[in-house]
Amino acid sequence: MDSLKLLLVILAALWIVYTLVDYLVPFFHGLPAKPTGRARIRKALEMASLRPGETLYDLGCGNGRVLVLAAKEFGAQAVGIDAGPLQAARAWANGQFNGVGSQVQVRWGNFLKADLSDADVVFAYLTSDYVPKLESKLASQLRPGARVVTVSFDFSNWEPDAFDEQELLFVYHMPPRAGDLGSFLSKRD
Ligand SMILES: C[S@@+](CC[C@H](N)C(=O)[O-])C[C@H]1O[C@@H](n2cnc3c(N)ncnc32)[C@H](O)[C@@H]1O
Repeated sequence: MDSLKLLLVILAALWIVYTLVDYLVPFFHGLPAKPTGRARIRKALEMASLRPGETLYDLGCGNGRVLVLAAKEFGAQAVGIDAGPLQAARAWANGQFNGVGSQVQVRWGNFLKADLSDADVVFAYLTSDYVPKLESKLASQLRPGARVVTVSFDFSNWEPDAFDEQELLFVYHMPPRAGDLGSFLSKRD
């Protein structure tokens, strides 16, 4: 009985630590811990025209949901980077569990320091606080023809090539065009 109690206490402690890390890492980056919904991810990857065999990066991959969907439904090679050790471990496990482990690669680290030059599509569900650093990094590292799809935030100095106002999705083709959402809407409407 005592050993059962001890086991339960250990499990409860592990669960508390897991939950705290799961929520605190995104929180300290000023982000919601909530993963993107599947329908929204699907729409984003369709808008970015992700094709089989292409390489997708998810900047801050969380639980790996984007990676799994990109690999399973779009036949992509998916690379996820997350600063949270639990997030990275869970994303990797998610790929294995869903049978797409050979297509999914997960790195534990800071995506601002990563080399993104082999990306065809970059997916980012972040906040506008990341824009100044990401703008210059993506513009200098991504090759012509690569696409960037953002969820919930846009690049203030770039004109999007596509915009979905319901899901708040923005797609940019590299090299980026000077402008902003306003210039895109004035041409479209
Ligand atoms: C809002 S969640 C998005 C998760 C996933 N991309 C999705 O759409 O479901 C943002 C993730 O970015 C990670 N993150 C924030 N800043 C980061 C950085 N500089 N480098 C790596 N990961 C980062 C957080 O740990 C968190 O898991």
